[in-house]
Amino acid sequence: MNADELIERAAEMAELAESGANRATSVAQLGEIERDVVRGSLSDIKKHIKDVDGSDKARVGQALSAAEARAKAALEVRRIDLESEARAATVEAERLDLTALGTGYGVGHLHPVTQVWRELEDIFCGLGYEVFYGPEAEDDWHNFEALNFPPGHPARAMQDTLYLELGDAEQVLLRTHTSPCQIRLLETQAPPIYAVMPGRTFRRDTMDARHSPVFHQIEALVVDRDITMGDLMGTIDVFFRALFGDSIDARFLPSYFPFTEPSAELGVSCPFCDRSGCRTCSNTGWIELGGCGMVDPNVFTAVDLDPEEWSGFAFGFGIDRIPLLRNEIDTLHTLLWDNDVRFLSQF
Ligand code: DAH
Repeated sequence: MNADELIERAAEMAELAESGANRATSVAQLGEIERDVVRGSLSDIKKHIKDVDGSDKARVGQALSAAEARAKAALEVRRIDLESEARAATVEAERLDLTALGTGYGVGHLHPVTQVWRELEDIFCGLGYEVFYGPEAEDDWHNFEALNFPPGHPARAMQDTLYLELGDAEQVLLRTHTSPCQIRLLETQAPPIYAVMPGRTFRRDTMDARHSPVFHQIEALVVDRDITMGDLMGTIDVFFRALFGDSIDARFLPSYFPFTEPSAELGVSCPFCDRSGCRTCSNTGWIELGGCGMVDPNVFTAVDLDPEEWSGFAFGFGIDRIPLLRNEIDTLHTLLWDNDVRFLSQF
């Protein structure tokens, strides 16, 4: 073979190595190409250098080295690819499926009573009311006296009060209702007032199906000029519908509270039996939620407002039964406070 033939043959071998490398699917195949082409054919071609003319030796030697370098480079590039593919396959095959035994992270949600509390605030904000919070530890003046419960008034006995050992005996207490917020608001803000006041309330009760020493109420107070009982009833009607839907009715029964005159007991038609009478509503067709009425003139006087100029209405009721009533869960309210997520997560 002359110089040009050797060069051409070497180039063919380099191409053979390149195309073989590209097709190879394993490192072992690359080894075969290396053996046959680089160490075999190209080495054989090299042996013929000694036969070419002296003036061509350098040119042929360079071309053969270049061909060998091309072949080796192609094999090396492919080897790196094949090895990384093999590594990825091994990793995938040996991967530990750690999710198999996991149950995932549960995302919590607000307690059903908190949900209703916030919803109530939303409904009243939508009606243009402000939200106001009063303290849980109260004094006798705000919880009773300014609300027209003078000392020794029999209505005080209706509220089993928890007193705190602070100051004079029986002067500091855990508020028994949210109504003292009415006084705090009237002391700090001039009418017109349209406000709701939700919060925790406390009474000396033992936990059972219907009682709890800690519970939640929401109070509403409207003070303006020429407010009538019709305004009160209309407001409650609108808001009950927003809360429970159109299928329920509000009921007002004559009642007594020292701080409202006239006063009414506030009820909602029983969602369990549609008013036909059942265990939940003690066969009355109605469920009592709280009280309401027109602000008593003595309350205005206690906060230095003129009852001739101002009139208003108030209502207050328990929040805790609402999530149960709305979901038609005829069950003990203690379930709300057991904090069993299997129950709570359903709301
Ligand atoms: N505070 C009363 C209670 O806890 C409920 C109540 C009755 C609130 C009449 C009022 C009202 O605002 O006007 O028993």
